[in-house]
Amino acid sequence: MKTPSHIPSSDPELLERLAEEYGTPFWIWDADVLRARINAVVSTTDSPGVQARFAMKASPTTKVLKEMKSAGVWIDSVSGNEVLRARHAGYSDGNTPPEICFTADVFRDNALQTVLDEGVLPNVGSPGMVGDLQKAKYAGPISLRVNPGFGHGHVNECDTGGPSSKHGVWITEAKTVLDAAEAAGMQVVMLHAHIGSGPEFDELHDNLSRLTDEFAEIVPLFKDLEAVSLGGGIPHNYRDPDADIPVERLRDLFASAQRKLSEVAGKELRLEIEPGRFYVAPGASLVARVTDVKSTETNEKGPGVTFAMVDAGFVDLVRPAMYGSYHRITLPGVNDRDDVPVVVAGPLCESGDVFTRDDSEMLQPRELPEPKTGDLIVLHDGGAYGYAMASNYNSLGRAPQLWRESDGTITQITRRETIEDILRLEE
Ligand SMILES: Cc1ncc(COP(=O)(O)O)c(C=O)c1O
Repeated sequence: MKTPSHIPSSDPELLERLAEEYGTPFWIWDADVLRARINAVVSTTDSPGVQARFAMKASPTTKVLKEMKSAGVWIDSVSGNEVLRARHAGYSDGNTPPEICFTADVFRDNALQTVLDEGVLPNVGSPGMVGDLQKAKYAGPISLRVNPGFGHGHVNECDTGGPSSKHGVWITEAKTVLDAAEAAGMQVVMLHAHIGSGPEFDELHDNLSRLTDEFAEIVPLFKDLEAVSLGGGIPHNYRDPDADIPVERLRDLFASAQRKLSEVAGKELRLEIEPGRFYVAPGASLVARVTDVKSTETNEKGPGVTFAMVDAGFVDLVRPAMYGSYHRITLPGVNDRDDVPVVVAGPLCESGDVFTRDDSEMLQPRELPEPKTGDLIVLHDGGAYGYAMASNYNSLGRAPQLWRESDGTITQITRRETIEDILRLEE
């Protein structure tokens, strides 16, 4: 599919007007872009017995969850509070059907109690979690997350499958956990694995086929099975906004996986997927103001660089600082200046507060139209793990999220975090 262009991030007058009203930095969502991505995923799951979830950790804002709900997409949550946020957005409790699934390797805070209270499907990623559920006198359905021994995320830090991944139960241990769960009166109704979104679509396609084959080997052991989840991992192309991502090819893969797994189970199974990033990545951009432009000089320690200082930092978008992730950067409305190499850096008292990095997280000047103080600057494709990972480090409040509806109206969906919000937690 081709993603429609993000209208607000290329409309300089609109962005200036929003900057005046809401201040900078701010996030801007484009409903059309988000809906196009949701529809693209949903159309890969329109065969009988195939169901999409949204890994809501990528963007847990109520407005986004409501969009998912109205498109018939279920939820994968990873904390008690995410379960409650999904409920707040209108998702049903209980297991018939399990609209909300809770995936974790550890029950923390209110997670166990929330799973019990809301009756949502726990997807256990550690053998001990069966014991935790048993101690809590739970005797209902569970899902079992396995580590199939292969797969990886978009960067090495995101190791989602293999010996060094902390996620799930090693696949050859699945039978032991099944026996423990059954002995405690629980029924394993779903098998699950998430093998991550490597950067290449073909790799994901091959990995999902391989995962289906591995599941087919163990499915006959699970007599209460109702579903198998292949997890998420559809990649987003952060470098090329015009890239054609052939998600349509997944439709046949999901349909044949559903048939194959149902055949070996001897009954109809539901096949689930739960992408996060692909639905939301291009839907939101971070808009910041260039507050200064300054340079260092080359000396024996290294080459001099030009810094565009901006008022957004890794408190707003941490992916470049955390993983060396690439986000496209544009200066809307600036068409008449030559490109120059610049390092885009934020306001935090941290030398690592830099948006332009290479894969090994080293500074990498980016060729951009020569920035000037006062310009607006847009960091694109931040809808996934952008606002969701924002913090108030340096006591900077989280930036607001704005929403552009198809008819052009703009609303604020999350306000700017204030000092009162921050102090409210202190005794
Ligand atoms: C269990 C689980 N499901 C789904 C996802 C979503 O992955 P992605 O955003 O790459 O599609 C993740 C992300 O790490 C995950 O851990």
